[in-house]
Amino acid sequence: MCGIVAYIGKKQAYPIILKGLKRLEYRGYDSAGIALLDAENSINLYKRQGKVSNLEEFAADKDLFGHLGIGHTRWATHGAPNDVNAHPHMSMDGSIALIHNGIIENYDSLKKELIKQGYIFQSETDTEVLVHLTDHISKKENVWFGEALRLALSHVVGAYAIVAMSKDYPKRIVAARKSSPLVIGVGTEGDFFLASDATPIVEYTKKVVYLDDEEIAIIDLDEGLKLYNIADQEKTPFFQELEMELEALEKGGYEHFMIKEIHEQPRSIHDCFRGRLNAEEGWVSLGGVRDYEQKMIQANRLIIVACGTSWHAGLVGEYLIEDLARINVEVEYASEFRYRNPIINENDVVIAISQSGETADTMAALELAKSKGATILGICNVVGSSISRITDAGSYTHAGPEIGVASTKAFTAQVTVLTLMALSLAKKKGTISETKFRTLLAELEAIPEKVKTVLETSDHIEKIAAEYKDASNALYLGRGSSFPVALEGALKLKEISYIHAEGYPAAEMKHGPIALIDEEMPVFVIATQGTSYEKVVSNIQEVKARKGKIIAVVTEGDVSVKEMADHVIEIPECDEQLVPLLATIPFQLLSYHIAVMRGCNVDQPRNLAKSVTVE
Ligand code: F6R
Repeated sequence: MCGIVAYIGKKQAYPIILKGLKRLEYRGYDSAGIALLDAENSINLYKRQGKVSNLEEFAADKDLFGHLGIGHTRWATHGAPNDVNAHPHMSMDGSIALIHNGIIENYDSLKKELIKQGYIFQSETDTEVLVHLTDHISKKENVWFGEALRLALSHVVGAYAIVAMSKDYPKRIVAARKSSPLVIGVGTEGDFFLASDATPIVEYTKKVVYLDDEEIAIIDLDEGLKLYNIADQEKTPFFQELEMELEALEKGGYEHFMIKEIHEQPRSIHDCFRGRLNAEEGWVSLGGVRDYEQKMIQANRLIIVACGTSWHAGLVGEYLIEDLARINVEVEYASEFRYRNPIINENDVVIAISQSGETADTMAALELAKSKGATILGICNVVGSSISRITDAGSYTHAGPEIGVASTKAFTAQVTVLTLMALSLAKKKGTISETKFRTLLAELEAIPEKVKTVLETSDHIEKIAAEYKDASNALYLGRGSSFPVALEGALKLKEISYIHAEGYPAAEMKHGPIALIDEEMPVFVIATQGTSYEKVVSNIQEVKARKGKIIAVVTEGDVSVKEMADHVIEIPECDEQLVPLLATIPFQLLSYHIAVMRGCNVDQPRNLAKSVTVE
């Protein structure tokens, strides 16, 4: 939610910030803005509603000189998405400019107080409070703007990543963070790059510092980077080397990031299990959580907390871990868990699943669990993200940067980690036979090749998409671990094509949703070989009897479903436990093709942002 980019150094700031904002546009695209310090030490401000390209067009004929600048792409929380509410926000005298990602919860009382002091607000945002409060403290206490910002933050309740600049300090930039991410890149020419994640930074430097909660960074071109806590005690920065490669951030010849990321899955799944399993030697090992496996085995229960697609992966994990390792697992929406006073203690292990590692609800659920003494673990994709840093231990999914707002390769990587986890726990606990263990390891190793085969059906799926692109509703059905795949299929269709879709356990149809079936209703069913096959076939017949259209994902060579269904999409044969890794791919492709045909913005669907850092 909201992307932040800033630069200070010898280079021109504008092109660096603009390019960075385009990389961060997945975090929000309601408006964009840039503030630049010009040669006369005045701050020039350019803001536009809508995408970064609107800002670029608007700024094209303006004075864009400046070696110091801050930029922002917004996902609106307080105030409509318009030019005025766009960041940066300025102090009334034009001396301070500030950008913010997060929410200031007590902004209303602070605003009322500032209005009493004579401050006039231009926007409806909570952020404008921060800039006026900083200005007010700076004048009242006669302190420089960085110190004023530090003092201002002690009055603030909420979440923030902030970057501020002042025309009176042309060599300085100040940043602060609490619960919203911020990375500082240390350039090779004594320059500095700041951003919400490392993607705008990686092409200039790989040396970075991730700000911790309640840390303030003061960057001075003469004195370098200094870190302080909110009580003004100096801290030692921890420099890290980025592992990200620039190519991963580009479309590489594909029309959209989403389709690129769908096609990356043979590699991303392989990267996820590389070095973690060996079918020939018969071992699996998730290094990051190895020391916690005994604790997981002995735990009262494992509680998986997540949101959206990651929650769906969690459900697959529940089926796998309970079935293979016989450990009690519960899967909770993080947003519900955090507010429902859950019973939790030191015998529980809470596992957060999050692609971004920044989702506010998931973070809060973890913090709650931690405060009750539970062990907290993470399964994240973004290295160095907040969740990966607050957890006791965790496993990265290694899917590489996911830029399309709709999650695809992150889901299959999360399911892969959960499969490895289930296998490792089962082996340690002795709940799996050696034959089954080795078979599953070998089957998992074979998955990337099978995903390639599924991807080859893209043209066939595109034809099916053409037939259903104008549907108003769709149902997705599955049983067992294919039920979460149905939920995920429905979510993909909803979010990028804006077609209403529901995922259901196939047998639940007759308890209500079957009333929706008519000749207009496409019903997407996972009907692969396995324990529930015959049952699913019966569910398909129930739909056909009511003239619904059946599009079935089946195992290669299937005969029965083929006879009943309007369309089938074949996936290679694989162990039932691993079907989610293959069956989800046709639904990703289907949603993608439908969204393209409907002229939707596939990578940046309306109203959404990739990283949901507000609750
Ligand atoms: C759907 C999607 C969202 C995310 C959810 C959680 O395609 O991307 O539903 O899965 O916002 O995000 P993370 O995994 O970053 O915590």
